[in-house]
This record gives sequence, C-alpha cells and structure tokens, in this order.
Amino acid sequence: MKIGIDQMAFATTPYYIELSDLAAARGVDPNKFKIGIGQDRQAVVPPTQDMVTLGAAAAKKLPKNALRQVTTLITATESGIDNSKASGIYIKRLLKLNDYIRVVETKEACYSATAALQFARGLVALNPEETVLVIASDIARYGLKTPGEVTQGAGAVAMLVTKNPHVLAIESVSASYTKDIMDFWRPLFAAEAHVDGKYSNQVYVDFFLKTYQRYIQITGRTLADFAAIAFHLPYTKMGKKGLDGLLNNDQSPVAQRLRNNLTAEQQFSRQVGNLYTGSLYLGLISLLQNGDVQPRERIGLFSYGSGAEGEFYSGILQPGYQEYIDSHLQEELQNRQQVTIDQYEHLFNQQLGMSSADVEFDVSSDPSEYVLAGQKNAQRNYQIQDRQL
Ligand code: HMG
Repeated sequence: MKIGIDQMAFATTPYYIELSDLAAARGVDPNKFKIGIGQDRQAVVPPTQDMVTLGAAAAKKLPKNALRQVTTLITATESGIDNSKASGIYIKRLLKLNDYIRVVETKEACYSATAALQFARGLVALNPEETVLVIASDIARYGLKTPGEVTQGAGAVAMLVTKNPHVLAIESVSASYTKDIMDFWRPLFAAEAHVDGKYSNQVYVDFFLKTYQRYIQITGRTLADFAAIAFHLPYTKMGKKGLDGLLNNDQSPVAQRLRNNLTAEQQFSRQVGNLYTGSLYLGLISLLQNGDVQPRERIGLFSYGSGAEGEFYSGILQPGYQEYIDSHLQEELQNRQQVTIDQYEHLFNQQLGMSSADVEFDVSSDPSEYVLAGQKNAQRNYQIQDRQL
C-alpha cells in the first residue's frame, strides 16, 4: 500500500520586510543578504499571530471534505505556546474538527515535522482508514541586530497523510543520524534562540552527507535515481552548501538538473525566511510548482534539526500532484503588505513572548482569519475573524 503526502498548503503572516531595507538599517552590503545568505524578503510577525494562528491558517486552505476525514492531528513545532497542552488542540477548535480525534505535538527543532510524517505513515499502515493532519508551524526569532536576524521568518505548512496519496508516496527506506551537540537551542527561559551559527552550518552539511551516504549504501541507488533533492532551508544558501558538498564540481546533466531544481525549491523560501519545521516542506511545494519534476520520479528529502538530528528519505511523485498543492502562493506572497524596519522592530517587541501579563491586542488591522486577541489569566485568547480586509 502506498502511503504519503496527499495534500499540502502553506500560510504565512500578512507582513514582510525587504532585506535590502534591513541591510541599509544594519549598515551591511545588501549583497551579503541577497547572495551571501540567499534571502530577499522576510515574514514579519504581528503580536496577533503565533504558531497556532499560522497553523490553523495553513490547514484551513485544505479542502473542507478532506479536513472532515482527519482522525489524528500532529503539530510539529519549536515555537510551542505551552509546555503541557498540545497546540493542535487550539487549532482543532479553530478549524472546527471532529471531537473524535487524537491530537499530539512533536519536538526536535526543525526536524520534528519529518518525525511527524513518519509517525503518521505508521498510523496509516496500522489502519488504512486513518487520515493524519501534520501541521509544521513556527516563528524563527533570533533577536534584533543579531547575526541570525537575517535568517528569521515565520509560517506553517499543513499536510495530509493518507493511503494512496495524491502528491508524494513516501518510500520505506530512510537514514537518520543523531548526536548530542549544541549548535542551536532555546532554553525554557528564552524567547529567542541561542545559536552557534557557523558551527550549525558545518553540522548541517556533515549530517546531510552522512545520511545521504547511508541511504545510498542501504538502497544501492545513485544520484541519477533522483529528479531533485529538497533541503531544509534555514536560509536558501544553506541548501546550496549542502548540495555543493555532494556534487563538488560535477558538471554532468544529472548534477545540473539537481542544481536547477534546488533553485526552484528556494524560490518561495527566499521571500519568507526560516519556518523551522515547515522549511523543508515549503521548499517541497516550491520545487513542485517551479521545478522540472515529473510524476513517477523520485525526490530525495533532507530534514535537519539542530541539537542535532538529520534524516534523508525519499518519495515518488504521483500523477496529478499539481492539483493537490497550494496553487496561488506566488500571488499571495506578492499581496502581503510591506512594512518599514521601524514598524518591524516595533512589532517584534510587542510579541507575547514569555510574559504572563494580561494583555489585549488590537486585531482590527490584522486581515488574517485566525488571530491572537490577547492573554487573560495566562490563557491565550484566539478569535476567528469572518472578514478579510
Ligand atoms: P554572519 O556571520 O552574519 O555571516 O552569519 P557570514 O559572515 O558568515 O556571511 C554569510 C555569507 O555571506 C558568507 O558566505 C559570506 O562570504 C557571504 P559563505 O561563506 O557562508 O558561503 N557574504 C557576501 N556575499 C556577497 N556579497 C557580500 C557578502 N558579504 C558576506 N558583500 C549565519 C551567518 C548564517 C551564521 C547567521 O545568520 C546565523 O547564525 N543564522 C542562524 C543559524 C542558521 O541558520 N544555521 C543554519 C544551519 S542550522 C539549521 O538549519 C537549523 C535551524 O533551522 C534551527 C533548527 O533546527 O531549529 C537554524
């Protein structure tokens, strides 16, 4: 029985900054951000959005009849809003999903959406009637005027995992690798990540090569068996560092195709930034919409989460996949509202973060359907707005 990703959708915040503006404000050559980091724009998060509202917005874009079939909801996040309660329970209410449902949350930095997908495959294998909704939702925050600032971002990807999937049938073989290292982490007291940036880049490439080579050893496949390799994209240059580590100076048509398809994968991420758990899967949507890939071809996927864990796995693209992935993303990204660097800094400092104080946010200027209206008695107040501004 084929099991895998049946449908995919993506949502981000209504606001963005141009990274050329950020470069000017920080006194940096804009080419460092555009070429050196590989990012053009970054999603800006108003205090009225968090990983719950973003996750709900992504899942809401999936067809209603598909959402009605959901039997398990798994949120994958490292921007969780509670150490105890699963964020998916709020999302379940906002989406008005059936009460007869299992809801849980997974965590291992950016890797956990891949764990959630693999666990979902297991559930469907045990009971082919299961429909699992996996939501990867995060806000990547490093802090104003930090080296990591240019690699911030926010958004969510929602994926349905079923038998006979319409997008990607996930193959059983995969290679995982885990080591206890400190490249990036966020202790319980911190609203922003601690990061050893250059070290994290090295570990990422090392884990990619280790997991890719192990996958190749197990399967006996070669580079020519892949139409594309999709990478976790904390910033788009990182995918290039990974692929360069594998291809070196290989100028063969196979290698050239993988490079072109990486450019296609990077297209949407360049405009949003790091989504942590969702980055690989926004990359997959971007690849499927903008790349040279055909039904029945194999796509390799490299998932990386700091701390650190990597997994290389693969899937076979399904005929007609185009109809089951979010189709108006370029237009939606284009329609976001640009904000100035001053406005971005103001919004950044208004986030609820670790505060326990009662607060009411003005939701009138946020055009999103799902908003965080504030916090009272340490409970977040989520609202559904039935207007689109
Ligand atoms: P930095 O020190 O500001 O930048 O930090 P840099 O000096 O290393 O420069 C970056 C690149 O720009 C370099 O290219 C420069 O040569 C180039 P590279 O050597 O890397 O190929 N450059 C220029 N290019 C063109 N024109 C110019 C110019 N100037 C310089 N004028 C860093 C960069 C990424 C380290 C920082 O932003 C950071 O710490 N980010 C956060 C950490 C991160 O994203 N790590 C990625 C791997 S870990 C991961 O993926 C997991 C993660 O998603 C978290 C999770 O799992 O939950 C992060």
